[in-house]
Amino acid sequence: MLAASPSPFTLDPGGASARCNPRDPEFFQHPYGFYREIHARMPAFRWEDYGHLCFAGFKEVNALLRDKRFGRQILHVATREALGWPEPMPHTTDFDRSELYSLLSLEPPAHTRLRTLVNRAFVSRHVEQLRRRIAALAHELIDGFEADGGTDLIKAYAAPIPAVVIAEMIGLPADMAPQLLDWSNRMVTMYMFGTSLETQKDANRAAADFMAYVRDVIAERRRVPREDLLTHMITAEQDGQRLSDDEIVSTAILLLNAGHEATVHTTGNGVKTILESGLDPRALFADDAQTEATVEECLRFDAPLHMFTRYALEDVELDGGHRLRLGDQIGLLLGAANRDPRRFGDPDRFDPFRRDGAQVSFGAGIHFCIGAPLARIELQVAMRTLFERLPGLQLAEPPAYADVFHFHGLKRLAVRW
Ligand code: HEM
Repeated sequence: MLAASPSPFTLDPGGASARCNPRDPEFFQHPYGFYREIHARMPAFRWEDYGHLCFAGFKEVNALLRDKRFGRQILHVATREALGWPEPMPHTTDFDRSELYSLLSLEPPAHTRLRTLVNRAFVSRHVEQLRRRIAALAHELIDGFEADGGTDLIKAYAAPIPAVVIAEMIGLPADMAPQLLDWSNRMVTMYMFGTSLETQKDANRAAADFMAYVRDVIAERRRVPREDLLTHMITAEQDGQRLSDDEIVSTAILLLNAGHEATVHTTGNGVKTILESGLDPRALFADDAQTEATVEECLRFDAPLHMFTRYALEDVELDGGHRLRLGDQIGLLLGAANRDPRRFGDPDRFDPFRRDGAQVSFGAGIHFCIGAPLARIELQVAMRTLFERLPGLQLAEPPAYADVFHFHGLKRLAVRW
């Protein structure tokens, strides 16, 4: 029997399970009430709506992300038949193909090979060189809307910066950024809880168009190489092997999608949090060190990605007596782990001056975000420049989050100054 709790969730009094519809606006507008209850009672619980075990504790999430008995992929150790999975859906063939060689769909050794080949482009000392370009872009965008006295900051500022940066890095023209955003936004809907057939078909069309475009650019780079990541992926060798076109297409699309989505949301969530906090932005961005700390606290306080899943790659028994069979899924709640009172003092308080802030928003283990150093630079530059240029920034209407629980980001962020 499930006991009634404040809407929109109910918790099993025994502490083993919870019901909470991820599409309920009461929940996805403010998931932290649910997390608070979970932390108080049961850091590991069965989330009935998803049908799998979930972990909310910082220590547990961090450890499970690194645990080799779990993987993002399972089909390298078990067949669909053995797992009792249905055949892939025929109307999502293009979408599935675009993900086939994505780093996020691979486990070692295939993952190690691909990650090594692209990693060099994303190490700190390399992306640090982009700081000036990012600042120029931020100023250029503000120049474009400053005289208007108000704008939707997501569309006018948060989205274009990471989209243009990753497009240019890969070697695609900056004026393709709006098209890339459109493909990416449509593809991401595939991860929504309970998607409709029409949404899935549209995501599939977006994937097909995106792949066709990237293939054309690959062909162009083969003819005329350039100093960009696409050319690097075409020519790079690892143990005498080159990447196939399918691998390059999957990697380019993953980088383009992952390369902006979460950064856009973090910028939006962060600006909202700062404006709502009443803290003085001048103090939050007073120097480089404080800017870094403010960005880390924004990432902790209102993470853009709330849940990642893993498959058990073998039968596993976890602490607390949780038994999992090969193929069982678990959910790792990054957004909840960042608010774990056992890890952070006063976790529901936004405090950019805290020094216990190391958060888990970029994940951990072998799939740890390859773009973390780039994202950090983008966020530091974008947020500091914004508050320096527009010191009178304020919310023009209450911001609302979009209906995709695990991509926790604002639909729009109307501000004025
Ligand atoms: C604030 C911004 C960002 C956040 C919070 C974020 C978060 C994450 C997380 C949590 C993962 C791990 C997923 C898992 O373990 O299942 C991940 C993986 C990844 N991220 Fe990010 N990310 C951000 C920005 C970026 C950027 C700017 C790029 C690219 C330039 C990027 C590229 C990737 C890639 C390629 C992976 C897959 C890595 C692998 O599987 O080895 N991300 N990201």
